[in-house]
Amino acid sequence: MARTKYVAGNWKMNMDKAGAVALAKGLVENLKGLTAKYMIAPPFVYLDAVYQEIKDSNIILGAQDMAATENGAHTGAVSAVMLKDIGVKTVILGHSERRYEFYENDTLINKKVHEALKNDLDVVLCIGELSSHRIVGVTERICEIQIRSGLEGVTEEQLAKISIAYEPVWAIGTGKTATPEEAQEVHASVRSVIARLYSPKAADAITILYGGSMNAGNAEALLAQPDIDGGLIGGASLKADTFTPICQFASK
Ligand code: 13P
Repeated sequence: MARTKYVAGNWKMNMDKAGAVALAKGLVENLKGLTAKYMIAPPFVYLDAVYQEIKDSNIILGAQDMAATENGAHTGAVSAVMLKDIGVKTVILGHSERRYEFYENDTLINKKVHEALKNDLDVVLCIGELSSHRIVGVTERICEIQIRSGLEGVTEEQLAKISIAYEPVWAIGTGKTATPEEAQEVHASVRSVIARLYSPKAADAITILYGGSMNAGNAEALLAQPDIDGGLIGGASLKADTFTPICQFASK
């Protein structure tokens, strides 16, 4: 099956309102007519302003995280219902910065996955090993554990709303990208985990993104790998000039 390529920009905790709006405007212009799937995930406080710029474009609005619970007494949290209300279509869950800076564990991430699905949001579920895991050769095992726990209780039908982002933690924000071969090897193993957990058909259909210092210089080679279906981009998503070429490669 030919999977549509998917390029997502995770803006993390960057930008001010004017910069967010300007970047969104620039991307709407640059991505016009391109045929892959595109998403940008601004900080919560700029979601609404960015939505106003992209609502009639081919760019989907994403959130970087979400609460595991419904509306109620949860100081500081943002619910799936609130995100949907302002135009968010998809949510990034289980990012390594959430796992390691904010102590999110697989159980919480799985709860968030179900909360997102209950509210009809798409999910980008992030997984990935630390360099200490890679050194001792347990990369694929770690990814499998994160997939199994993150997707626990998710049906094959619901899986259609989920993409997986393989982001080796040692490659995030470091300028050290996994080589296309290293990334491909893990992507193929992620796909085989999905085949075992669900079915070969589900494995063939699922979108698996690579994230970790992906940029205009290395994107083409990464995207050429058979199991790399797109990218989750941090640093290079913060400027239209650096994000656009990646989107263009994906559209070929
Ligand atoms: P960088 O592209 O800055 O390495 O970030 C990747 C990432 O964490 C995207 O979610």
